[in-house]
Amino acid sequence: MSLVNAKEMLLKATEEKYAVGAFNITNLIQMEAVVETAVNKKAPLIIQTSVAPSKFLRSDVLATIYRTLAESAPIPICLHLDHCTDVDYCKTCADAGYTNIMIDASKQVLEENIRQTKEVRDYCHSKGDISVEGELGTVSGVEDQVKVAEDEAALCDPEQALQFVEETGVDIFAPAIGTAHGVYKTKNPKLDFDRMEKIYGLINGQGVRIPLVVHGGTGLQPDVVRKLVSLGGSKFNVSTDLKHVLIDTTYGYVSEHRDEFNPGKIDIAVKEAIMAKIEYWIGLLGSEGKA
Ligand code: 13P
Repeated sequence: MSLVNAKEMLLKATEEKYAVGAFNITNLIQMEAVVETAVNKKAPLIIQTSVAPSKFLRSDVLATIYRTLAESAPIPICLHLDHCTDVDYCKTCADAGYTNIMIDASKQVLEENIRQTKEVRDYCHSKGDISVEGELGTVSGVEDQVKVAEDEAALCDPEQALQFVEETGVDIFAPAIGTAHGVYKTKNPKLDFDRMEKIYGLINGQGVRIPLVVHGGTGLQPDVVRKLVSLGGSKFNVSTDLKHVLIDTTYGYVSEHRDEFNPGKIDIAVKEAIMAKIEYWIGLLGSEGKA
């Protein structure tokens, strides 16, 4: 079980109509909290790092810790590189031991996006069991170094989506359907459910081939999350929510304990708060007991 790429676990999730939580982490406490909660809930798990934390913490160090945690966990766990715009750095992380790589060439024209995605896909497949995620259309907001203004955010064209997955041979696919990174400015962001349904039908209508990814999980209402899962979203990305928990809990703890100088206690408070948040997401995505 344990160390797996994303494709296998997401095929199962797509067929059984639940989603695997793909949680962005920026430090070891978050990584341990995410793994421990998924183990408690017997839920498959995708740990994600965007490029900045993976460089800051070192991709080889992260992959080694991931291997140590995943090898002793009775659930499948994938380590995913999120939104990498640099083909060479995708390869570096594949070499380091990440088991799923996202090449995000979605700001390029279609032909160049296909070329870069295929290059990363070919490299990862030649290395063994590493799956690759590609994106078409762009998700607005900020994720790490990738910043996209809302008016630039083009939604994914369904016919191009089919062309993209066929020509790249990509393993999992993220279509832009109106979700955004970060906190939504409105309680009811405009999402294109019909587009999601159409893309799912074109790609997976004759049998599940390429699992679909939903970016921008933070701030979506529970009924919207459930609807996106029912329409075939089987990898659900959550980042900002966890960053807020980390910062708010740290700030809250330190403010209330100004006379204490024990960093371990801050870590424990953060870990517990992250675990509660992950529990919420696993329940909402329906992945509890699916490992
Ligand atoms: P949020 O920060 O909105 O949760 O988005 C996460 C994401 O899609 C990472 O790729």
